[in-house]
Amino acid sequence: MANHDTLGKSAFILLTGLCNKNCYFCFNHNVDQALLKNRINLGNLPKLIDDLSHSRIESLIITGGEPLMNMDLLELAIRKAKDSGMSVSVDSNGTLLNRSIIDRLEDSELDYLYLSSHFLKTINQEILKCASEKLSLRVIHIITKHNVNQLGDFVDFLKQYKIGFPTLNPVFLYRDHKNYEDQSLSNLKDDDLQNVMEVIKQVYWKNNLDFPTLLKDFYLGRNASFPTYCHMGEADLVIYSNGDVYPCFHRRDLYAGNVFDDDFQIIMQKNQDFAAHTKAAKCFGEHCLSHFTN
Ligand SMILES: C[S@@+](CC[C@H](N)C(=O)[O-])C[C@H]1O[C@@H](n2cnc3c(N)ncnc32)[C@H](O)[C@@H]1O
Ligand code: SF4
Repeated sequence: MANHDTLGKSAFILLTGLCNKNCYFCFNHNVDQALLKNRINLGNLPKLIDDLSHSRIESLIITGGEPLMNMDLLELAIRKAKDSGMSVSVDSNGTLLNRSIIDRLEDSELDYLYLSSHFLKTINQEILKCASEKLSLRVIHIITKHNVNQLGDFVDFLKQYKIGFPTLNPVFLYRDHKNYEDQSLSNLKDDDLQNVMEVIKQVYWKNNLDFPTLLKDFYLGRNASFPTYCHMGEADLVIYSNGDVYPCFHRRDLYAGNVFDDDFQIIMQKNQDFAAHTKAAKCFGEHCLSHFTN
């Protein structure tokens, strides 16, 4: 889901499948809902993190659902992973942030809190300021046809809170989604697309990123800068809240096993074997563009 600074050998874990929001675009609407059943709990989480640590996972990216909905579980996950020497980041919609949660995240020594941009302006300003002072905040910005032209203003808004350039995540919608026509960048006319890319370029060039080139090539249908290597396919794994493991959020055809039902070493071996299908990034597409932000 994001370009996390912690990449090495990473485990993405949906700590809970529950969410307090219902974003029209959410990836989770398209997955088999059985994957979002909550099987991770305070009792089985420590062993799971030990298993990951013994498999030389260097970073844990906690996502969901909304991880802040279960603070006891989240705090345990962060503390345990930090004790095991991993770097830890959390993806959140930010809507449940309050001073007590911010303090708990700070005390647990979380490395990065990645806030999704879609609710950012609804968060109480004092709370956002407090979070930006006590935590290392990053922002993942879903871009759509409608908000892309305000990208410069959005970056200025983030600066007020000393938050740097957001990771850009072009909204991924299937063609038959009711908001596809209205929101997706995929069906922009060439002239409009050029304008959009100019906006992105103006903002991002200043930050010396070459992500705009990748975006531009992608939406113009050129493959010159397409990646030929994918870290999700080689080094990473995704654990759903029911315990099912896949090498990537978008390769659910490659099932490696269930951390609560199967032998952990066999799961890891299967996941590693899948790299033959995935690491050359042949499945690269709009759904994973933000993984290639650098
Ligand atoms: C599924 S959410 C879970 C964490 C948390 N609830 C949140 O919204 O940040 C993880 C990330 O996926 C992104 N995401 C979800 N659906 C998406 C889509 N269709 N296209 C692009 N990014 C998407 C969200 O913006 C968020 O950054
Ligand atoms: S807040 Fe996150 S998990 Fe919840 S619906 Fe939105 S994108 Fe999905």
